[in-house]
Amino acid sequence: MSTLLEVNDLKTYFYTTSGIVPSVDGVSFSLESGQTTALVGESGCGKSVTSFSIMQLVNAPGKIVGGEILFKGKDLTELSDREMRKIRGNEISMIFQEPLTSLNPILKIGDQLDEILLLHQTLSKKEAKNKSVEMLKKVGIPRAEHVYDMHPHELSGGMRQRVMIAMALSCNPSLLIADEPTTALDVTIQAQILRLMKNLKKEFETSILLITHDLGVVAELADKVIVMYAGQVVEEADVMSLYAEPKHPYTQGLIQSTPKIDSEVDTLNSIQGNVPTPSNKPSGCYFHPRCPFAMDICKSQMPELKTNEQNGNKVRCWLHESHQEG
Ligand SMILES: Nc1ncnc2c1ncn2[C@@H]1O[C@H](COP(=O)(O)OP(=O)(O)O)[C@@H](O)[C@H]1O
Ligand SMILES: [Mg+2]
Repeated sequence: MSTLLEVNDLKTYFYTTSGIVPSVDGVSFSLESGQTTALVGESGCGKSVTSFSIMQLVNAPGKIVGGEILFKGKDLTELSDREMRKIRGNEISMIFQEPLTSLNPILKIGDQLDEILLLHQTLSKKEAKNKSVEMLKKVGIPRAEHVYDMHPHELSGGMRQRVMIAMALSCNPSLLIADEPTTALDVTIQAQILRLMKNLKKEFETSILLITHDLGVVAELADKVIVMYAGQVVEEADVMSLYAEPKHPYTQGLIQSTPKIDSEVDTLNSIQGNVPTPSNKPSGCYFHPRCPFAMDICKSQMPELKTNEQNGNKVRCWLHESHQEG
């Protein structure tokens, strides 16, 4: 297994009129080739800012202020706009929660697909069209030739998300970043899109960074899981260990509050309170005010992200400090 992307101590801050917002505050993780890695956490934890940082699409007042993002060994934070445009859509592509905002409403589906292919590959117009129609078929769009000539608003949400996936995979990227790709869809369509992503990952051998607040989605697709809380990584584990033996109380809370197919959400077990805003984080461990196991040290000192030498999994929690060392 080789490392495709390595994020080291990434810091992305927003410089707003009311102060500095440290949305991503020292995040490190790596993605292996051909694997699906899930980035999970409640809304506001910094997942999207992390993905925009990787794509070098953080806009003012936001700025990457520290760390490195090594993609195939090259630090993306050091590339010029021109160099990054060659990578974006070609080697790394991204799909979002709401495809309507990333599809151009006035252009036909086919023209948008052709445009990406023509930007990154040397193809004739006709070859681009053939490839676009082929991609639409691959993502399970019926009557692909007909859809090629349609506008985004003529399609359902699920079909639009399939179009986005076709666009994202058209240049066969090594990395696909999918930011809440199924959140806006109803449950049946959600399941179809997840199945599609699973199959395409095999066919295209694409690594996926799957961003979601939904741990049900993670179980379906991911090999490795990274849990974020308040702009930091609090746990990292292979998917089996994470569900069998979640270490961080935050991860335990997330799992307990995931709705099961055959039962209601156990509201007694869901996490109390809210994610702190990045400009107003508590002292010590950022999770301590919501943690059922908080000790004195948790209120004053931030634990480090410690690696378990046996299995390589990581956790940032005082409860696990002593036996990690021993
Ligand atoms: N343009 C911005 N200006 C100020 N704060 C922002 C901006 N974009 C995001 N943030 C803040 O950064 C934090 C992380 O946001 P985000 O990455 O979108 O969370 P997630 O994707 O995990 O729901 C949030 O608290 C959000 O309010
Ligand atoms: Mg988000």
